[in-house]
Amino acid sequence: MLEIFLVMLCGLTSRGMTKDADNKGRFSSPVLDVTERQITLEKNQMVQLNCRGRWELEWVLPSGVSKNQVSAQVEETRCGKRANHYCSRLTLSPALAQHTGSYRCRYLHKQRKHTSVYVFIADSQQPFVKVQKEIPDVVYMKEGEDLVFPCRVTNPDSKVSLVKFPDRRLGTDQRNIIWNNRKGFVIRTPTYFYIGLFSCETIINGTKFTNKFLTYRPVNKIQQVYLNSTGLVQALQGERLALNCTVTAEWNSRVKINWSYPGKGNSSVSISRRITQSKTNVVFYSILTVHKLHKADKGLYTCHVTSGPAKREVNTSVIVYDQPFITLKHKDGSLVYAHAGQKSFRLFPKLRAFPEPEIVWLKDGMVADEQCSRYHVDGYSLVIRDVAEEDAGVYTILTRIQQFGLYRNLTLSLVVNVKPQIGEKAVAVRDTATMPRFSRQAFRCTAHGVPRPQIQWLWHRCPSKGLSPARLA
Ligand SMILES: *[C@@H]1O[C@H](CO)[C@@H](O)[C@H](O)[C@H]1NC(C)=O
Ligand SMILES: *[C@@H]1O[C@H](CO)[C@@H](O)[C@H](O)[C@H]1NC(C)=O
Ligand SMILES: *[C@@H]1O[C@H](CO)[C@@H](O)[C@H](O)[C@H]1NC(C)=O
Ligand SMILES: *[C@@H]1O[C@H](CO)[C@@H](O)[C@H](O)[C@H]1NC(C)=O
Ligand SMILES: *[C@@H]1O[C@H](CO)[C@@H](O)[C@H](O)[C@H]1NC(C)=O
Ligand SMILES: *[C@@H]1O[C@H](CO)[C@@H](O)[C@H](O)[C@H]1NC(C)=O
Ligand SMILES: *[C@@H]1O[C@H](CO)[C@@H](O)[C@H](O)[C@H]1NC(C)=O
Repeated sequence: MLEIFLVMLCGLTSRGMTKDADNKGRFSSPVLDVTERQITLEKNQMVQLNCRGRWELEWVLPSGVSKNQVSAQVEETRCGKRANHYCSRLTLSPALAQHTGSYRCRYLHKQRKHTSVYVFIADSQQPFVKVQKEIPDVVYMKEGEDLVFPCRVTNPDSKVSLVKFPDRRLGTDQRNIIWNNRKGFVIRTPTYFYIGLFSCETIINGTKFTNKFLTYRPVNKIQQVYLNSTGLVQALQGERLALNCTVTAEWNSRVKINWSYPGKGNSSVSISRRITQSKTNVVFYSILTVHKLHKADKGLYTCHVTSGPAKREVNTSVIVYDQPFITLKHKDGSLVYAHAGQKSFRLFPKLRAFPEPEIVWLKDGMVADEQCSRYHVDGYSLVIRDVAEEDAGVYTILTRIQQFGLYRNLTLSLVVNVKPQIGEKAVAVRDTATMPRFSRQAFRCTAHGVPRPQIQWLWHRCPSKGLSPARLA
C-alpha cells in the first residue's frame, strides 16, 4: 500500500514553495503534487492527489467518479507558512477501473486556470473503462468530424484492435486510424465504410474482452416546411388560434421544431407534436395553440426548424381585433363613369371587415348578377363585361356579418358615356339630292349619346369636281 502514496505534500514544500513572496507567478494555476502527465495504479489501491493554490480550489473528476461517492473524499485546508494558501486533497479508496480518467484541479472562481493528471487504474478483469452492456452504444458520425470509438482502457499498455463486424480486423495506421489509450480509436476521415457494427477487442490471459459500437450517420435533410397559414392571420380577441407547422424530411432524419411568438413566456400557449413516417420520408407536425387570444398576442409567429446544421423557418403575422367590424367607404366618390363598349369595368368600394362578411350587389334594387349574365361578383367588387348603356344605374353593395348582427351598405351611381351617333346615318341616304329652287325643305338630324350631344349645322358649297355639269346647271 505504502508505495502507492504518490507524492508527499512535502514534495511540494521542499521545492521552495514556502517562499510565497518571491514566487508571485507561481500559482497563477493550481499546482498538483504529481509532476507526471499520467500515472498508473492497480485496482483497489488508493489514489491520493494534492492540489495547492492561491485561491479556493475545486476538482473536476472523471465521469465514473462521483464526489459524494463514499470512496472519494476531498479534504480542504489552509496551508503555507502564513496559511495564505489553499490546499485540497482528493482521496479515492479503493480505486476501481471505472475511476480511470482525467483528474483536474482548478480555481473555483477562475475555472480556466487548472492542472490535471490522467490516472489509469489497471484491472485485468476490466480492461475497458466502460463495461459492455447488452446492446452496443450508438456512435454518431458527423460530417467533417473525427469518428471516435470510445473504448478507453484501464491499462495504458493494453493491446486493442478495432474489428468491423463480423471479423474484419483494422490495423492502426497512425494516419487515418489512430489508437489513443485515453480516447479509444479515432478515425480521422470516416467514410461510408465506417457505418455499421464495430468492436474494440483485447485479450488478457486468454480471455477476450470487447466494447461494441453501432455507428449512425444522422441525416439532416429538410425537404419542406409548411405553415398552414402564411400571410396574414386575423382573429378576434378571446378566440383560439392554432397554427400547424408541417416539416417533411428525409427518412431517418431528426428534426427540432421551435416557435417564436409574441406571447412567449405566457402560459396560455401549448405546443403539441406528432411524427409520421412513410417509406420515403418523415413528417413532423408541431401545432401551436393560443387558447384565448389577447391583444398582446398579435405579431409574428415563426416556426424554426433545425436538423443538424440545416435550418429553415416559416412565419405568419397575426392580427388580433377587439371586436368584429365593417368599414365601407367610397373609393373615389359616389359617382363613377364608364363608357359603352369598354371590355370590362369594376365597381369597387373600400371595404375592410372582420370576420369575412357576406356581400350582395344590387343594381337598381335587384340582385345584380341575377339580372344580367355580364355581371359577376369578384371578391368584394362587381365586374361588368362589355359595358353597355343600359348598365348605367344605381348600384348598392350590402355587407353583413350575421353572427354579430353587423350590416353596412353603400350606394354608387354608374354613368355610362356613349359616343354620339346620328340616327339618319344608319339609314342609307343619298349624298346629294335635287330640290326645286325656292322650295321649303326641312332637314332632320337625330343624334343620340351620353351625355346628351349638342347638334350644330354646317353648310358646305357642293364640290365642283367629279360631279356631272348637268346637275350643276
Ligand atoms: C494470468 O493468469 C494467471 C493464472 O491464472 C495469473 O497468475 C496471472 O496473474 C494472470 N495475469 C494477468 C495479467 O491477469
Ligand atoms: C397539420 O397540417 C397537415 C397538412 O395540412 C395535416 O395533414 C395535419 O392533419 C394537420 N394536423 C392537425 C393536427 O390538424
Ligand atoms: C391550421 O391547423 C390547425 C391545426 O390543425 C387548425 O386548427 C387551423 O384551423 C388551421 N388553420 C388554417 C388557416 O387552416
Ligand atoms: C429555440 O428557441 C430558443 C429560444 O428562443 C433558441 O435559443 C434556440 O436556438 C431555438 N432552437 C431552434 C432549434 O431554433
Ligand atoms: C402575458 O400576459 C399578461 C396578462 O395576460 C400580459 O399583461 C402580458 O403582456 C403578457 N406578456 C406577453 C409577453 O405577452
Ligand atoms: C417571414 O417570411 C418571409 C417569407 O417567407 C420572409 O421574407 C420574411 O423575411 C420573414 N420575416 C421575418 C421577420 O423573419
Ligand atoms: C342601407 O342601410 C340603411 C341604413 O343603414 C338602411 O336604411 C337601408 O334600408 C339599407 N338599404 C338596403 C338596400 O338594405
